[in-house]
Amino acid sequence: MTYRVAVVGTGTEPENPNRDGYAMAYHHADGYERLDECELVACADIVEENAAAFADAYDIDEAGIFTDYATMLETAEPDVVSLCVPPSVHAAIAVDCIRSGVVEAIHCEKPMADTYGGARLMAQEALRHDVQLTFNHQRRFSQAVRTAKSLLDDGEIGRLERVEFQAYAGLLDYGSHSFDLCSYFVDETPGSWVLAQVDYGEENRLFGTHNENRAIVSWEYENGVHGIGVSDSSDDGRVGATIGCHNRLCGSEGTIELGAADADAPLRIRRSGDAGWETVDTGDGLHDWEYLYRAIAETVRCLETGTESELGAKNALNATELIFGAYESARRRGRVDLPLDIEDNPLVSMVDSGALRPEPRPDTEDS
Ligand SMILES: NC(=O)c1ccc[n+]([C@@H]2O[C@H](COP(=O)([O-])OP(=O)(O)OC[C@H]3O[C@@H](n4cnc5c(N)ncnc54)[C@H](O)[C@@H]3O)[C@@H](O)[C@H]2O)c1
Repeated sequence: MTYRVAVVGTGTEPENPNRDGYAMAYHHADGYERLDECELVACADIVEENAAAFADAYDIDEAGIFTDYATMLETAEPDVVSLCVPPSVHAAIAVDCIRSGVVEAIHCEKPMADTYGGARLMAQEALRHDVQLTFNHQRRFSQAVRTAKSLLDDGEIGRLERVEFQAYAGLLDYGSHSFDLCSYFVDETPGSWVLAQVDYGEENRLFGTHNENRAIVSWEYENGVHGIGVSDSSDDGRVGATIGCHNRLCGSEGTIELGAADADAPLRIRRSGDAGWETVDTGDGLHDWEYLYRAIAETVRCLETGTESELGAKNALNATELIFGAYESARRRGRVDLPLDIEDNPLVSMVDSGALRPEPRPDTEDS
């Protein structure tokens, strides 16, 4: 079986990635190109030259170049669609792909959507129409992350009591990966409550969507494991000043750290009674496009075998609920018990209402 693959939102210039554009489509395409069972047949971008350049790079016929994704769905009839558009249009385009009746699988970039209602709608429609909907939380596929989970599952740090993270940008943007990794460590358990505060004084749009400058979040999962997360979009945030590492797993008998600021390897463990940290060499780091290729391969494998992907909407919604729950907690100025019963993005609503007044940033595109 050969899957006909299409990409929506090709972007441009992958050599120069920044907060306004990584051209993730090129990385997705590289992932599909590695798979014998996939053939890239079409692409769509509202900017025609972006679509044309992408088609040129991946040998897509001229008949496969579109500026309107709806026409692309009708004409090219793809089995698989990668959505690499900005978060503000993830939900609408995903729902149109699902309802087209031709698409069997969608692999959408993170975050799920720019509102909680949008995220829920995508998940609902995918379930209703039996379409595989996955999200590109590729960081799960680093060997360092996988090994951390194996060490945890092997009881090396006893019972998991708390997960911690430091996100190097906002809770919605980078936090989508951070909360997703926490979900992975707690075996995809849903949250029970969330309590957070945000600081948003200087406009910070990531891929077109507002993200706070700083946030601190505390939450608990239904299995009693607690979480503490910090987001910091400032340069200080990059060195992990607050939490001190990318992810930490605190157990009853030890600690595992991923991406510790003062470590020279991405993974280390300290068991109760140890004199110091033990570095665990996994041969890789926390970021590599290779993890994205693994994510794409995993979604295609799940489509072929009819199995549920760990990157699926059900799991992604757990992380997404904590993101929007954190923003809702800042709006309500209190703890938010889950499930979350809102439709909007509370951070954006607070900006719209004037409750938050970020100073405009001249170098930030309003896209
Ligand atoms: N997984 C990761 O680690 C990671 C890293 C960076 C970005 N991202 C995510 O990838 C997504 C895309 O980001 P990017 O940096 O690739 O963006 P980009 O700006 O490089 O590309 C997006 C493209 O979408 C096109 N587009 C916008 N609206 C469209 C529409 N309605 N129909 C068709 N095309 C449309 C734009 O013209 C643009 O060419 C975002 O959700 C972002 O959060 C994920």
